[in-house]
Amino acid sequence: MTKLYKAGILGTGSCLPQRKLTNAELEDIVETSDEWIVKRTGIRERRIIDNDMPLAKLAVRAAENAIHDAGIPREEIELIIGATLTPDYLCPTLACSVQKELGLKGVPAFDMNAACTGFVYALNTAQQYIENGAYKYILIVAAEALSRVTDYQDRKTCVLFGDGAGAAVVGRVEDGTGIMGYVTGAHGELGHNLTIPCLYSTEEDLAKRNEGKKQVVWMDGSEVFTFAARIMAEATLRVVTDARLSVGDLDYIFPHQANARIIQNAVKRMRYPIEKVYSNLERTGNISAASIPVCLDEASKAGMLKKGDRIVLVAFGGGLTYGALLLCWSR
Ligand code: UT7
Repeated sequence: MTKLYKAGILGTGSCLPQRKLTNAELEDIVETSDEWIVKRTGIRERRIIDNDMPLAKLAVRAAENAIHDAGIPREEIELIIGATLTPDYLCPTLACSVQKELGLKGVPAFDMNAACTGFVYALNTAQQYIENGAYKYILIVAAEALSRVTDYQDRKTCVLFGDGAGAAVVGRVEDGTGIMGYVTGAHGELGHNLTIPCLYSTEEDLAKRNEGKKQVVWMDGSEVFTFAARIMAEATLRVVTDARLSVGDLDYIFPHQANARIIQNAVKRMRYPIEKVYSNLERTGNISAASIPVCLDEASKAGMLKKGDRIVLVAFGGGLTYGALLLCWSR
């Protein structure tokens, strides 16, 4: 396929809810301990959205932040892609709500759900529109309110998840920079290992959950763990090899933040130094699709990224899905 332009990230933004949920507070809710959570997951606290706040509001703040960071007038945005598995409404979508709040009347807007791989899938989708010349500026907004689908009586899952929003403006960048390659995939046959029923559920779905709780996460943690560590290593190695590079050529890796042990295990498999792997898990927990864009925004605002840096964004999630993108930072 002819690529007319190179696509890259022009600006990033994020917004986390104010309220913190600490491990000590969780000790009062379920039978767990700060020691167990830190040792087995690396998480110390996560942010939780207020009951009366729509997720779209967090998403709009992250989006405004990213547009400001990109230095473009918001009217230049030609497409909005929402990445979420916890939208306020099935319709209107998160992307449509953001479009309305930003006053971008008429701009196409849609959501995609690839669970925790959502941002990688969305960036890969935006990349196609930029490369073929269809649009000049695309807003991706990845936001999650996982606390709304978490069963706080289930200690196997409730210690893991948090809420938050991350955003990016994607557009044309100089040759030799931007998105240099991608690997994406899904294993539907493994989907039963991580489920959140929505409009339909089976007897088995109900049996796995605490009574009366239908639309909450159920997960076979160790199955997902094994898949995640393997696939994040494989996808990273594939995306760098396809670009005729090696992991040693990478300045940073931004992995999906699910569990510190998954990250350590994946990084060990690819023989990459853990010091060059970005992590905010300790403070945010797992915020699914929002995880990578929040990390990118933090790193970018902290001045960690410079033009020409080679980075990999790599994620796995419900589906089960996975994806890795190789980027040469263009800002
Ligand atoms: O974005 C994708 C979302 N999913 C994930 O990333 C999750 C991937 N999986 C994981 O992160 C890990 O599998 C968990 C953190 C979920 C669990 O860690 P683990 O080391 O695999 O523990 P385990 O499930 O093998 O459980 C070990 C023990 C069990 O007790 P018994 O059966 O040995 O007596 C659990 O009941 O730890 C117990 N346990 C807990 N104890 C205290 C499970 N959760 C907790 C808890 N506090 N919160």
